[in-house]
Amino acid sequence: MSEVEEIIKVKNFYKKFGEKVVHKGVNLSIRKGEILTLMGGSGSGKSVLLRSMIGLEKPDKGQILFHGEDVVPLDEDSLVGVRNRIAYAFQHGALFDSLTVKENLAYPLRAHTEMSEKEIHEKVMQTLAMVGLEGSEYLLPADLSGGMQKRVGVARSIIMDPEVILYDEPTTGLDPFNTRQILRIIRMLQGKGATSVLVTHDMTSLFAVSDRIAFLKDGKIIAMDTVDKIRKSTDPAVRGFIHGETD
Ligand SMILES: Nc1ncnc2c1ncn2[C@@H]1O[C@H](COP(=O)(O)OP(=O)(O)OP(=O)(O)O)[C@@H](O)[C@H]1O
Ligand SMILES: [Mg+2]
Repeated sequence: MSEVEEIIKVKNFYKKFGEKVVHKGVNLSIRKGEILTLMGGSGSGKSVLLRSMIGLEKPDKGQILFHGEDVVPLDEDSLVGVRNRIAYAFQHGALFDSLTVKENLAYPLRAHTEMSEKEIHEKVMQTLAMVGLEGSEYLLPADLSGGMQKRVGVARSIIMDPEVILYDEPTTGLDPFNTRQILRIIRMLQGKGATSVLVTHDMTSLFAVSDRIAFLKDGKIIAMDTVDKIRKSTDPAVRGFIHGETD
């Protein structure tokens, strides 16, 4: 076996909704410290797979090992610990509208740590600076542009210093400036040792930031390799994805 640690391992994952079978035996390994991008057409099950990694969905069959421990059977109480270590940046924002940026960021710290007000304030300011949003702490989400809201969402996901960050379409709908900011944050966190799993349709972002790319199609991972190898792939399905025919 290689010496690379596989921090998350999805094994034989099956999931259906009613009659619709979405995952038909997904196998996927995420290596510690890498940026892995998961691609697939709309409805192929990318978000469900990400959500399952933190127990927001349960597969019908299969395992999701985090440091070798299966998170699938864990109850809500045990999942709190997992969710402090694996952060999820939601596809659609998820900030509290009535709370300031600062209170949005302070929320997980208040809920899960014993930090003092002063420590919380410092951590919030430091994290806001990381996403390039110094000075926004007393604004409400409604006062921010979509791109800034997305960056606050990322800031809230990383404030607990997670080992793994799951990003669901972090750059979708963003202008080039905010896209670059998000990619910069993802790389900076990699520099600090974080592992990232990215779901995106944005080819430019994907090639710029990923170490490896995995393709989800017809309920399975049909290819998984380094960006370089994927670029050179002659597999028609992979080429279809790269050229934008994502369904
Ligand atoms: N709670 C649910 N109830 C019923 N069907 C669901 C539920 N969640 C997901 N699905 C279905 O499962 C399939 C996969 O959904 P998922 O959100 O994972 O797709 P996706 O790959 O993230 O798509 P997109 O690129 O559009 O975000 C879709 O057909 C979706 O309608
Ligand atoms: Mg999705």
